[in-house]
Amino acid sequence: MPPILTDDIRQAYLDFFRSKGHAIIPGAPLVPENDPTVLFTTAGMHPLVPYLMGEKHPAGTRLANVQRCVRTQDIDEVGDASHLTMFEMLGNWSLGDYFKEGAIQMSFEFLTKVLELPVEKLAVTCFEGDTDAPKDEDSAGIWKAAGIPEERIGFLPKAKNWWGPAGQTGPCGPDTEMFYWMGKSKLPPAGSNPANDEANWLEIWNDVFMQYGKKEDGTFEPLAQQNVDTGMGLERVAAVMQAPSVTTDGAGRITVYETDRMKPILDAVSSIADQKDVAMRHPRIIVDHIKASVFIIADGVKPSNVDQGYVLRRLIRRAIRSARQLRIEHDGTFSPGIARAVIAQYAHAYPHLKAREQEILSALQTEEQQFVKALQEGMKQFERATAGAGSQIDGTTAFHLYDTYGFPLELTREMAAEQGMTVDEPAFRKAFEEHQKLSRAGAEARFKGGLADNSAETTKLHTATHLLDAALREVLGDHVYQKGSNITAERLRFDFSHEEKMTPEQIAEVERLVNEAIRADLPIAYHVTTVEGAKKEGAIGVFDERYGSEVKVYVVGEGKNVFSREICGGPHVARTGMLGSLKIQKEESSSAGVRRIKAVVAGGPAEIEVATEMENGK
Ligand code: ALA
Repeated sequence: MPPILTDDIRQAYLDFFRSKGHAIIPGAPLVPENDPTVLFTTAGMHPLVPYLMGEKHPAGTRLANVQRCVRTQDIDEVGDASHLTMFEMLGNWSLGDYFKEGAIQMSFEFLTKVLELPVEKLAVTCFEGDTDAPKDEDSAGIWKAAGIPEERIGFLPKAKNWWGPAGQTGPCGPDTEMFYWMGKSKLPPAGSNPANDEANWLEIWNDVFMQYGKKEDGTFEPLAQQNVDTGMGLERVAAVMQAPSVTTDGAGRITVYETDRMKPILDAVSSIADQKDVAMRHPRIIVDHIKASVFIIADGVKPSNVDQGYVLRRLIRRAIRSARQLRIEHDGTFSPGIARAVIAQYAHAYPHLKAREQEILSALQTEEQQFVKALQEGMKQFERATAGAGSQIDGTTAFHLYDTYGFPLELTREMAAEQGMTVDEPAFRKAFEEHQKLSRAGAEARFKGGLADNSAETTKLHTATHLLDAALREVLGDHVYQKGSNITAERLRFDFSHEEKMTPEQIAEVERLVNEAIRADLPIAYHVTTVEGAKKEGAIGVFDERYGSEVKVYVVGEGKNVFSREICGGPHVARTGMLGSLKIQKEESSSAGVRRIKAVVAGGPAEIEVATEMENGK
């Protein structure tokens, strides 16, 4: 029997790739650590960028996992049958190990032997080639040899069949995508494939051949190793497996929202809705947005007006707006109620949701209540603005409602329609773009570091964080533990457990110790060991399920002169001297019992060397 339920598919995937020699690694949090170039983890490869670029992964060259992902670029499509803001990606990786043949053969075997999908309903696309890379005849040939007929193999350009980099620069390459027949007829007609009949095919899996690195100037260079990065959408595969069309007449299509883990959440929405929406768009938006919000809050984000917090705020507000359409009460209990249904479906697979349930529910409640207040204020403003207006609300007013009261344009449009008015949308968009230009200056500064590619500046700051961690423990005591770290190209931010505000003397002493270590130009190298081994040698680090059983320990200094020993994925600079010097700019409270330090480094070389594995492995 093939796996049908979401949990069983997830497990079958991991079991299959384990049987093919892959180490199963844990998924990463939704907020990328030490990577300022993207707000959220958008794919399983994202936390693996350093390893795709050539860093050694402690678990080996074949990896697989389940990664929770958030993609906001598809947000306007959410509400259709298959797009989700937050989804689970099943992925397997080869870090310079197998390449096209191994990847495609394993994909084909999983689809046809484990999921038992009929090959007659499968189709694939391959890269058609351009000036950057040749047509991918290799992949097409491997598919054909595996059993996919030529008429089901389409070729498409870079816009479709090329994946990455996840940020501005970094690993990427041509991909081959796998699709399942979703058309009305039982079997696809002769000649149909996703390149000529896209609407009837559902993409379920993507094998990316990451053999190029995109550079800042937009050109591509071959990477040191040929990697494979794959991503399969769990919810979509569950829809395929649970659709009657898998075994019957092809007509009984279901959506990702009607799969076993999503349907109970959809039912929770329907049970409180006082208004039907035949298209189901609003109920689906609510399910999607609250589910995404639950996972985002669980990974440490609070609603705010910047970065991840702003995306979260928008998701919650859009969900409330859809709730209004369905005449669902929204006084602070609506979103927590749906969140409970989400947690009930996912806590067994993601225990941190249960552990943080109270935090999640109260963040949603607060945001919902605040939004309702803002809505009431905005309504007054709206009424004032429309009182004397003719038949149209001007762009400035619409933007003011959006910017100050958090009214999505759709809401203003709906309220206007209720009064028989329209909104000057081109003028709204103009005001919006003006505003974006301003905030983009900030965003661009963040992109400059390039990082998903490990720029020199972020690597230096990453090493500085280790020195800081060690110095803090030296000065304040062993109760100091890293509670969080966030690095941009400009500065490091380090949160650690400590009750009191640091005195100026303590700050000066920590700075002095770090700069002494920098001046000593200590060597840095890593070795691979077990979590137990790392603990035994006194390495500090976050000992949680984030790491697999094998870990890398980065050691700063050698012999009697070891300054720091810390579990970490890297990369780091090869010698402390490359940091120049460190300056602590700020010490402040982060939350109860947690202090936060912001610091910068300056004066080091522009080009750095990266720390490598120790020669004797110790
Ligand atoms: N990283 C690839 C994707 O997201 C697998 O499609």
